[in-house]
Amino acid sequence: MSLIRTTAILILLTLTFSQTAMAKENVIKFSHITTEKTPKGKAANYFKELVEQRLKGKVRVEIFPNSQLYNDKEVLKALLLGDVQMAAPSLSKFGKYTKKWGIFDLPFLFKDASSVECFTNSPQGQALLGAAEDKGIKGLAYWLNGMKQLSANKPLLVPDDAAGEKFRIMSSDVLEAQFKTVKANPQKMSFSEVYNALSTGVIDGQENTWSNIRTKKFYEVQSDFTESNHGVLEYVLITSTEFWDSLPKDIQKELSAIIKEVTAKETRWALEAAEEDKQFIIASGRTKVHTLTNQQLELWAEVMKPVWKKFEVDIGKENIDAALKCNN
Ligand code: LMR
Repeated sequence: MSLIRTTAILILLTLTFSQTAMAKENVIKFSHITTEKTPKGKAANYFKELVEQRLKGKVRVEIFPNSQLYNDKEVLKALLLGDVQMAAPSLSKFGKYTKKWGIFDLPFLFKDASSVECFTNSPQGQALLGAAEDKGIKGLAYWLNGMKQLSANKPLLVPDDAAGEKFRIMSSDVLEAQFKTVKANPQKMSFSEVYNALSTGVIDGQENTWSNIRTKKFYEVQSDFTESNHGVLEYVLITSTEFWDSLPKDIQKELSAIIKEVTAKETRWALEAAEEDKQFIIASGRTKVHTLTNQQLELWAEVMKPVWKKFEVDIGKENIDAALKCNN
């Protein structure tokens, strides 16, 4: 073989090799809407840290917190277009893709965060993770935030107190129906707009977790909070089926193991935040936090209960029954 031919082959081989090596670094852009101090924010950063330790040179993660890149409505489209590869929106925001995840919005279905965890770990909960796969969205894990609380610029002690009030809700038909049962006026709105809408009076109230209420400073612009624990804010960590299927099997396996580890920490952070953030808000003295009597709580639950029947066919009675079993 002539020297020229050998050199040409070597150059070709080097080029092919370096192209393959370059193609091996998969980039995961992970977009979310909360601050980095929330359980979700911390978990996203921890995911990046573990991936960079264990999949160095194969996978790189870029995190975009705090609606910096997209809000939750936009992020689902971006994920399907391949502009981002991961997100962790609230399960309340998938109505266009699956009605089944509406189960997480049913008022007073879950007694507390451990009932939610029991359900997400149950066979029914695990099967539900795949509910949006036919739309190209792969559920990788459930991430907890916590139980939601109500607020307004007046005490909300009984359902009648909410009548006529404008409440911001996530984009969920179930949540819309929930507020209609108490004759309130629900308004779907992006998370990033809530603080301004509350401070300018565009809306009167909202529902969210202690963690989001603290990190987004809602307690500074609402005079009264009710510890209602009436619903849950639960996330689903997602990717697109297209991106996931494009990854080599060994990378999928390592990512799944990392996600399992991160999910366990995320749950712990969420449980801690729920208590710490509530105490922080009470201690701030900027607002009043009302605790309901059992009788008052039962009244809210009773008035809101018809929402279950309304969405039972969409969600599946067997799923609701499985969730109820977790309250025992
Ligand atoms: C919301 O819109 O209130 C929540 O989904 C925010 C969050 O925790 O992602």
